[in-house]
Amino acid sequence: MKQDMIVILDLGSTQNTVLAREIRNLGVYSEIHPHDITPRELQALPNVKGLILNGGENRVVEGREVQVREEIYALGYPVISVDYPQSKCSEQLSELPDQEMLKRFLFDTCRAEANWNMKNFIEDQVELIRQQVGDRKVLLALSGGVDSSVVAAMLIRAIGAQLTCVHVNHGLMRKNESESVVKVFRDQLHANLVYVDAAERFLGKLAGVADPEQKRKIIGGEFIRVFEEEARKLEGIDFLGQGTIYPDIIESGTKTAKMVKSHHNVGGLPEDLKFELVEPLKQLFKDEVRACGVELGLPHDMVYRQPFPGPGLGVRCLGAITRDRLEAVRESDAILREEFAKAGLDKKVWQYFTVVPDFKSVGMKNNARVFEYMVIIRAINTVDAMTASVEKVDWDVLERITNRILSEVENVNRVCYDMSPKPPSTIEFE
Ligand code: XMP
Repeated sequence: MKQDMIVILDLGSTQNTVLAREIRNLGVYSEIHPHDITPRELQALPNVKGLILNGGENRVVEGREVQVREEIYALGYPVISVDYPQSKCSEQLSELPDQEMLKRFLFDTCRAEANWNMKNFIEDQVELIRQQVGDRKVLLALSGGVDSSVVAAMLIRAIGAQLTCVHVNHGLMRKNESESVVKVFRDQLHANLVYVDAAERFLGKLAGVADPEQKRKIIGGEFIRVFEEEARKLEGIDFLGQGTIYPDIIESGTKTAKMVKSHHNVGGLPEDLKFELVEPLKQLFKDEVRACGVELGLPHDMVYRQPFPGPGLGVRCLGAITRDRLEAVRESDAILREEFAKAGLDKKVWQYFTVVPDFKSVGMKNNARVFEYMVIIRAINTVDAMTASVEKVDWDVLERITNRILSEVENVNRVCYDMSPKPPSTIEFE
């Protein structure tokens, strides 16, 4: 293995990830593990150079203070503590970020090398994947999102033809999105890719369904069914690749931190599909996943794409989905993205998209009265998607987009700009 590692033991700090980032920023790989890790589990981790006992406000769990196992101290690792009174530690960090002391601990006490970089990370993961999988086969649901794309590229590098990717096109993808998945993964990376055009099936199930929650349930449930059907057709698959990333694990709750929301990456596959998981990105933060994708040679657009909800355009074609409005969302979204990129706004604005409501308004085209749909443009900035502010888009850019939508998109005679921050509005409309 290429990389040295510092292990952070979570003794109730809310700053575990901040500390892990700090150490990685200093060039040393770090992982966060539960306070009650056993000596055997710790010794199984590669190249551990030192331990940080990271205490904090969540140290009391169910009325008892959490402690590390006594045997850990006998293993011979240098140990430092933060906000955790422990006489057996060689040193104590008085506060985060005490950078100088942290550097001394990493480089003088632990003698860790600053060898954490994406190249080394990928080489190590490739080796670990090969060890785990051997000559057996892995299945991956490849949505085309950042995380699943990066996992796919990593698995292709590690095990090539032993990987089968399944891309389910639910008919609610953005313009050319599925085509780009096929082009990149099948044509350029030569992946074993099963492409399932399930658009008709999804649209059939969604016909006449106007309730947003019901729509989401149908899309999520149908996705699992299609994926499961494809999985059953394949022979001898033992593993399921997953694009789990570090925030998914943190948000799902640790032994000391409360759950924020549960994540299930393929949407809760049935238990009788018995797979072992392969999750090579599970220790990476989002920006690191992107850097990993770039290093693996994925196209910039795929790696830096804006967030896109699982139910896709289905939650932007408001109310009961109809084909004409779905096309209007898809075409107007493509125009918006093109014009934002031309104006350099794609690098500045966090998320931008169009929606089409399920009512019509009166207009005039070629001197005749028309009764058609409207397109609403939304462009927001946020840090964590919990609150959001509206981007003040230049008037000329908005005019250009409006003119293009009105002349190029069928069944549309009106364009509006959404001025609502979150809260009280949410980012998406449904
Ligand atoms: P809201 O509408 O709740 O959206 O303000 C917050 C962020 O989450 C995205 N979003 C989703 N992402 N699956 C996802 O992966 C979903 O079902 C989903 N719904 C909303 C939304 O695009 C925004 O970035």
